[in-house]
Amino acid sequence: MTFGLLSPLQCSRLLNSLVRAHSQTVRLRRFSEKFPSNEHIRRFISENTELAGEQSLTPEMKLRLFTPGCRFWTERAELWPFDDPYWAIYWPGGQALSRYLMDHPDVCVGKAVLDLGSGCGASAIAAKICGSAHVVANDIDPLAAVVTQMNSELNKVEPPVCLTSNMIGSDPEGFDLILLGDMFYDECLADSLHSWLDSCIKTHRTKVLIGDPGRAPFEGHDVRKHLHHLARFELPECVREENYGLTTSDVWRYHPEL
Ligand SMILES: C[S@@+](CC[C@H](N)C(=O)[O-])C[C@H]1O[C@@H](n2cnc3c(N)ncnc32)[C@H](O)[C@@H]1O
Repeated sequence: MTFGLLSPLQCSRLLNSLVRAHSQTVRLRRFSEKFPSNEHIRRFISENTELAGEQSLTPEMKLRLFTPGCRFWTERAELWPFDDPYWAIYWPGGQALSRYLMDHPDVCVGKAVLDLGSGCGASAIAAKICGSAHVVANDIDPLAAVVTQMNSELNKVEPPVCLTSNMIGSDPEGFDLILLGDMFYDECLADSLHSWLDSCIKTHRTKVLIGDPGRAPFEGHDVRKHLHHLARFELPECVREENYGLTTSDVWRYHPEL
């Protein structure tokens, strides 16, 4: 295969996006074979999660999550039929971000909000509770969309719009606020997020809030040079235990001069 006049960097980006598109297609096909209807997915989630959330930084929010009482807490991981269920965990970064929003509802009131990498949907739900005009929850895992709808119902809010496409790298849309809870856990993801966030900020002056418990790819990343610290939260004991010794989680505004 020849890529004509593309530079090595452009070639590698093109290949990466082809690989991403292919794996997304395969994932969606496997998913729809296993779960022909929304009801099948809901049942699967109900059977494999428990009502939890009261021991998080937002105890007022009810969420369906993995708990020690769930079969797959101890079951062999290879028996799980899908990608790692990140949507069944309420991550420390998302907890801090949601707590911050609940404590400062003015940040959301009337705003168009994107929760990118929304997982269980907690930060999108917090944005809804705080009076956002429009909320989009985006996660490439299709189960995240369904659990977000279920968790919205539990918290008696209208579900956000749930999108499962990969928005990173797409043309920036006119969101007022982008939320990133624990999204800097992987260096490649952090790099692609970084340049996409810059284009969102440049085009739409979008405000970007990051919740992170001090993960290594975040601490060592260039985004750290343009952060404004907003809040620090002590993690509840059980969250510390589940997160290998992390003790606090911070909220930052990413605010580069562009
Ligand atoms: C560590 S979890 C954080 C979930 C949630 N924000 C929280 O704090 O509880 C990361 C989430 O990002 C999602 N994700 C990974 N890459 C993504 C991408 N390119 N676009 C959207 N979501 C992505 C994963 O499926 C996963 O649910």
